[in-house]
Amino acid sequence: MIKGKTLFISGGTRGIGKAIVYAFAKEGCNVAFTYASSADAANDIIADVESKYGIKARAYKLNILEPETYKEVYELFDQDFDRLDFFISNAIISGRAVVGGFGPFMRLKPKGLNNIYTATVDAFVVGAQEAAKRMEKVGGGSIISMSSTGNLVYTPNYAGHGTNKAAVEAMVRYAAAELGEKGIRVNAVSGGPIDTDALRAFPNYEEVKSEVVSRSPLSRMGEAEDLTGACLFLCSSASSWMTGQTVVIDGGTTFQ
Ligand SMILES: NC(=O)c1ccc[n+]([C@@H]2O[C@H](COP(=O)([O-])OP(=O)(O)OC[C@H]3O[C@@H](n4cnc5c(N)ncnc54)[C@H](OP(=O)(O)O)[C@@H]3O)[C@@H](O)[C@H]2O)c1
Repeated sequence: MIKGKTLFISGGTRGIGKAIVYAFAKEGCNVAFTYASSADAANDIIADVESKYGIKARAYKLNILEPETYKEVYELFDQDFDRLDFFISNAIISGRAVVGGFGPFMRLKPKGLNNIYTATVDAFVVGAQEAAKRMEKVGGGSIISMSSTGNLVYTPNYAGHGTNKAAVEAMVRYAAAELGEKGIRVNAVSGGPIDTDALRAFPNYEEVKSEVVSRSPLSRMGEAEDLTGACLFLCSSASSWMTGQTVVIDGGTTFQ
């Protein structure tokens, strides 16, 4: 039962994060989410989910390239919400910040790779630490990191993201091992290629898309909504003995 509880998710303005905000709000869960530059989109989402689902929603500006600033964002969160039950580390960087991190192996550069580590692993760590402090006060909770199957199957240009998704899945297992005693479960949801802005920014987007459609036994690309069910499951009592795992939702593409 997630009705009346509170979710905090990074990157709730677009793509998968936005779909998760709506899925939780629809179930009666209050939602706090972050944005980087889409302040107007964040305000529109707040107004929409509050009026449609009668829940409380708030948004805060966050730059995951500066993970320590999560602490200030959580202080703002504390002024708006009196409990935290679920945290989903979802936001991802793109554009200039990933130059040297997104590309073929021979063009990888430490700065770009380190930016992706900061935004993926460090941001998960600080966001989850702050979440755990608050979840402890309500007797437990559920933490999720979004991941991708680009750490399992070769995806052109994806070495920087793929290696950091592998790292964050390992960090999830360490967090799970140490937070269980507080009643906090920690898992990852790993998606195959999903049709969002992040994927549309791939220079070979059309090629990736047609390959996914032909590889998937379900003959289609993933949509952002395809990942919401696993998040709801991992935040519900239906998954109460599940921790330290990665749930793969890939339309069957990883095995083909
Ligand atoms: N798309 C896929 O194929 C796929 C597959 C599997 C897993 N995933 C994972 O799912 C998650 C979401 O991906 P997506 O495709 O939905 O991404 P997306 O559509 O590009 O959305 C990115 C989100 O992150 C925020 N963001 C961007 N730069 C940021 C920064 N510097 N600091 C803080 N927030 C920032 C954006 O906020 P603004 O709108 O304000 O810029 C937006 O809300 C990621 O962890 C990704 O790796 C994606």
